[in-house]
Amino acid sequence: MKYFLIALFISMSAFAQKFDGLAPTPPMGWNSWNTFAVNIDENLVKGVADAMIANGMQKAGYTYIVIDDAWEAKERDSLGNIIPDPLKFPSGLKALGDYLHAKGFKFGIHNCAGTKTCADYPGGRGHEFQDARSYASWGVDYLKYDWCNHGTANAQETYKTMRDALHTAGRPIVFSLCEWGNNQPWLWAEKVGHLWRTTGDIRDCYDCQGVYDIGWKFILDKQDGLEKYAGPDHWNDPDMLEVGNKGLSVAESRAHFTLWCMLAAPLMAGNDVRHMTDETREILTNRDVIAIDQDPLGKQGYRFMDHPSKQIWAKELSNGEWAVCFFNAGSEPLDLRVTWSNLSFLQGAYRIRDVWAKKDLGKTDENFARKIPSHDVVLVRLAPVK
Ligand code: GLA
Repeated sequence: MKYFLIALFISMSAFAQKFDGLAPTPPMGWNSWNTFAVNIDENLVKGVADAMIANGMQKAGYTYIVIDDAWEAKERDSLGNIIPDPLKFPSGLKALGDYLHAKGFKFGIHNCAGTKTCADYPGGRGHEFQDARSYASWGVDYLKYDWCNHGTANAQETYKTMRDALHTAGRPIVFSLCEWGNNQPWLWAEKVGHLWRTTGDIRDCYDCQGVYDIGWKFILDKQDGLEKYAGPDHWNDPDMLEVGNKGLSVAESRAHFTLWCMLAAPLMAGNDVRHMTDETREILTNRDVIAIDQDPLGKQGYRFMDHPSKQIWAKELSNGEWAVCFFNAGSEPLDLRVTWSNLSFLQGAYRIRDVWAKKDLGKTDENFARKIPSHDVVLVRLAPVK
């Protein structure tokens, strides 16, 4: 009996786990939702993949190509299998996965823990193990799992069921929880998924407020204090990028990208990467800014100073380095003056690199002054003087 219980315990614990080690740094890629919403098809996705190779995004680290809501046929097949819309994806999703893999990408997909997705396509509730097998058979590498139409379901139990289904299907799949922070997933999801949304949806504006979505400045404010919950393989997700989308100025796109990197956020581009300006491409592919997001120490940055027009964010990096972001949250240009000794997290002297300007600026023994345009940032990387 004793041995039976031990064996049962071992087999259950082997069962109930996520695939470890799939997201040592925050996942990077592209997602269809912010620009295309339900208007997706296989040619769009292939075109995006080809563009991301040509424009340098793939080389810069954008690996996952994720098709969001509305890839599904409106009904499951007669056996209850979830199937793609035959008009949008006539070659099927296995073929699309093969195309993406052959081009060096990983394949991501969206569905929902409720009975229907937010856009009213079949959801996964009650079909978790069946769907996980379909996803594995199509070569899916990443699942974003939404929370519309969940009824009275319990979030922890529901997401654990899908985690177990993915694990049982046997193909390592990054599991991205998208329950909008409603049930404080940062307190319980580390063992369930690799990333979890912390808020409702982002919108392509600085600080506007929609019915279901808000500008990135408001989303940023909601990240303050969550830094202690993130780390390798378990990231807070402040939602996908709006960089390059029409509601943001270039400064606002640059600041949004920089602050998401300070947050060690997943970097899921949400613009039409087939047609973007050079300025947008330069923001999205800046290796030195991305390196701050992807730093192997895996620490999320935190807000060191908050003031209506001036914020300072700090992110500890490996090898004793720091990234510091000065953010002008106000509507007027800001005359920034920094007395380095006031940044109490620093110890000793550092060499200063202005990351966006790509310039070395001397050492922290000299004070620092800059003008920052409204809604823009100055980002410095500090390396200890040995
Ligand atoms: C929710 C999610 C979004 C997107 C849409 C699709 O709103 O939070 O990111 O996936 O559903 O309908």
